Amino acid sequence: MVSGGKGFVLWFTGLSGAGKTTLTQALVPVLCERGVPIEVLDGDEVRLHLSKGLGFSREDRDTNILRIGFVANLLARNGVNVISAAISPYRSTRDAVRAMVEASGATFIEVHAAATLAECESRDVKGLYSEARAGRRPGFTGIDDPYEPPLEPELTLPTGAESLEASLERVVAYLEAEGLLRTLEPAR
Ligand code: ADX
Repeated sequence: MVSGGKGFVLWFTGLSGAGKTTLTQALVPVLCERGVPIEVLDGDEVRLHLSKGLGFSREDRDTNILRIGFVANLLARNGVNVISAAISPYRSTRDAVRAMVEASGATFIEVHAAATLAECESRDVKGLYSEARAGRRPGFTGIDDPYEPPLEPELTLPTGAESLEASLERVVAYLEAEGLLRTLEPAR
């Protein structure tokens, strides 16, 4: 990391099951191997700790996302890069996080994990879509709750159609091209 340098926030957004967590878990070792400092805020995990007790109303989702954004900003402005992997369904809330991060001088990269509802539902890794269709999980994103795709994301990954490796390569290539893969200074 350049002395006094700011970090980046790589903000994955997309439907449940679109591959946000999978991509994150694949990306971390790649960045670690290069000596790029990285911290992860994953939706499911955040909801066990930082956002424990919050549900899935618009208000609670916004609170969840703004909390993730708050922590991401604290880290990024101190030079620690962050990956966020939460559905973050509302455009205006994502934009609010972007504004906060950019105001700190850090870089916000919105990445749409753009697997379609049909693709996510056909995989249904956690079995939640079938529960939602059966009416046992009301207010499920993409079924009876909104998902607002980004209008101008820095990256769109067709995660339902391309391989994990291909998506990963694109993210790394983007970070590289933007000069964001700065390593920690060696200890003196
Ligand atoms: S967000 O809307 O606040 O960004 P977040 O990413 O933290 O959501 O959590 C989403 C995860 O919670 C999903 O992957 C799924 O496992 C679970 N979940 C449980 N209920 C819902 C629901 N009603 N809508 C979406 N996801 C849900």
